[in-house]
Amino acid sequence: MNRRIRLARMSWTFFRQFMLNWKTTGAIAPSSPELADLIVATAGVAKARTILELGTGTGAFTQRIAEVMGKEARYLGIDLNEGFVERLRARFDRMNFESVAAQECDFAAFLGEGNRFDCIVSGLPWAAFPQGLQESILDQVLPWLEPGGKFVTFAYAGLHLLPSGRRFRTLLKGRCVELETTKTVLSNLPPAFVYSASVTGAGAASNAAINSRSRR
Ligand SMILES: C[S@@+](CC[C@H](N)C(=O)[O-])C[C@H]1O[C@@H](n2cnc3c(N)ncnc32)[C@H](O)[C@@H]1O
Repeated sequence: MNRRIRLARMSWTFFRQFMLNWKTTGAIAPSSPELADLIVATAGVAKARTILELGTGTGAFTQRIAEVMGKEARYLGIDLNEGFVERLRARFDRMNFESVAAQECDFAAFLGEGNRFDCIVSGLPWAAFPQGLQESILDQVLPWLEPGGKFVTFAYAGLHLLPSGRRFRTLLKGRCVELETTKTVLSNLPPAFVYSASVTGAGAASNAAINSRSRR
């Protein structure tokens, strides 16, 4: 399908879902191709063997991931919205999609014993989440990141200064060894930048401890 028609369709589908579920959809429009390029490059998707995408939406990041991921790489994309997931399954046949909440996903079932994700790309609307949900998603997901791997997510410039946006940054920083921010992508609606976080072996181990506590 022509790229412009696909983007227009994605925007319309996304906007309809925003009207129906504005709290979980968290944005009025899908991310721009420029933000997708930046987040996927920052995550190091091209070299990853296992890739997790949180909050796929209509596939703004998924499209770019599909273009650059290695032939042998394994991908799991999850989203709460079953309609989004069904569309992506039909569009990307060598990728796996699940309609599940990030804080409840059984990553071991996808990864198999002893494996972790090389990178995690998140499109979740963190600033729209209460603290408990921000914490439970981070604690569910970060232990599955390979030491040295990247967890990348984006924030809308300006909204990241709201109390919920600042709290998310603090929670993420407390769980990672390094947190960097990129330039702002002005062509995104609204303009957005990327947070890039990494965990070390020690960080991953303590994350695993958090995770086993939260399962008790
Ligand atoms: C801001 S949209 C981003 C979509 C896409 N990644 C993009 O950038 O255009 C957020 C997506 O996260 C999904 N979502 C919200 N809360 C979620 C949760 N707890 N678990 C999984 N997906 C969730 C929503 O259904 C929505 O599709």
